Amino acid sequence: MSCCETPSSDMAAQVTEIPQSKNAVGPGYAVKGSEEIRYSYSFVDNVFDAQKEDLAEFYKKWGRVLIVIDDIVHGIYGDAIEQYFAAYKIPVTFHIFKGGELNKNMDTFEGMVDAFDQFGLIRKEPVLVVGGGLASDVCGYACASYRRNTNWIRVGTTLIALIDAAISIKVGINHGKLKNRLGAYHAPMHTFLDFDFLRTLPEGQIRNGFAEIVKISHVADKTTWDLLVKYGPDLVKTGFGRKEKDAAYSQELKEAADVICRRAIKVMLDLESPNLHEIGLDRVIASGHAISPTLELAPFPPLRHGHAITVDMAFCVTLAHSRGDISDAERDEWFDTIIGVGLTVDHELFDYDMLQRGMAAILKTRDGLQRLVLPKPIGKCYFANDVSDDEFVKVLKTHKDYVLQRFPATKGGNGVDAYADAGDLGADPEVLKQKQEESLRETGIGRAKKAQANGTANGSAKAPLKSTPNGMPAVGNAAVSASA
Ligand SMILES: NC(=O)c1ccc[n+]([C@@H]2O[C@H](COP(=O)([O-])OP(=O)(O)OC[C@H]3O[C@@H](n4cnc5c(N)ncnc54)[C@H](O)[C@@H]3O)[C@@H](O)[C@H]2O)c1
Ligand SMILES: [Zn+2]
Repeated sequence: MSCCETPSSDMAAQVTEIPQSKNAVGPGYAVKGSEEIRYSYSFVDNVFDAQKEDLAEFYKKWGRVLIVIDDIVHGIYGDAIEQYFAAYKIPVTFHIFKGGELNKNMDTFEGMVDAFDQFGLIRKEPVLVVGGGLASDVCGYACASYRRNTNWIRVGTTLIALIDAAISIKVGINHGKLKNRLGAYHAPMHTFLDFDFLRTLPEGQIRNGFAEIVKISHVADKTTWDLLVKYGPDLVKTGFGRKEKDAAYSQELKEAADVICRRAIKVMLDLESPNLHEIGLDRVIASGHAISPTLELAPFPPLRHGHAITVDMAFCVTLAHSRGDISDAERDEWFDTIIGVGLTVDHELFDYDMLQRGMAAILKTRDGLQRLVLPKPIGKCYFANDVSDDEFVKVLKTHKDYVLQRFPATKGGNGVDAYADAGDLGADPEVLKQKQEESLRETGIGRAKKAQANGTANGSAKAPLKSTPNGMPAVGNAAVSASA
């Protein structure tokens, strides 16, 4: 496909007459047609280098470009972007929005739609989105809705955007307290994958992305998993080799990082592309996304997504081990790697009650089956649908005992910088403090009572803690739900 081609249709459909139904006044019609979905990826380091025309090619025809970008990414890359397009004599219009999960809403969406209108976006003219998974989700949804179908091109700037959100054609926004509740399937024309953006990405965000690579590799690609085991902490510290200054080591690390990222992307594309609209529900890439949506939003501020999914995966690894699906050595290596990079493997709110609520919630989206993705052995997997309540109780206790005994320094499995901060949420720190206090008032008492009632169910009869390890209040937030 050339760079500027749009997805195509063969412009053919079959319309056939079907028998008259009971109360109809005559035969009906059935329509059958298909539309091809085509989109592409390219790996271009330093995509805004004026020597590299790849991105500009898409906009030469239009002689201008509308760029949707959050305030932080604009602050870092705005000038470079302007200089890049200036080199091709393409004037730039920025629509700058305030990022953060609390702003992943209808207001931000409408702001983008208004910007399209003001710009006078021409049918088929592609919007350019530069940013993390949030920018591409909201802008992609605005493009799906604007004239029912507007073209877009994305440049991912976070590890999550590059190796996870980029794989999907899902776009959307949160609605009230429901995560990604409004959305669409709307593929961009093209995605640029430029890992040099990791140079400026804070370590906490790199760690988040690392968790998503664990998600795919430990159940689907042993080669990638082995590289994560070997290079884990250095990958996180150096932004997958892109921040590394020591030339000799940098080369080795960058090469390993590039192999990891390319393989992770390819494996995910191979697994997900045949099932773009998620018609099949046995999804390997849903590993770590069963109980984590409930856990992630239980404390306020929420757990960072990567930490919530590693707790979920850690439980599944313990479950797989208790079934004899993986060896002691495989389990120990898994936990050493995850803890070595500062991710979370257990949480005080992760008790039997939460397991039940989390499973009840996920059963609704998985057509009544558990579909837990269990490694067997590491690098391969199967879907478990037969985990009984007794097994959940037993494995939860085994899990907590193992973490406490083998990793006492983590004080119950806690990771580093595990909670979303004001930047992640897009909240004014003062507003964030108020929301924390409100949340504590609303749910703190309920949480304390519930925890007392469940105190022995998870094998730890200890009283509920008043605060999480980083001093943030750990309060239940049962009204919130999330989608994987
Ligand atoms: N559509 C999908 O399949 C899919 C998959 C995964 C995640 N998501 C969505 O993506 C969002 C999370 O994505 P994310 O983790 O990229 O978050 P994000 O887009 O909010 O970015 C995280 C933070 O990093 C900043 N940032 C972005 N690039 C930077 C850079 N290069 N240097 C410095 N700072 C930078 C952003 O301004 C923001 O503050 C969630 O809303 C999630 O639902 C969607
Ligand atoms: Zn995820």
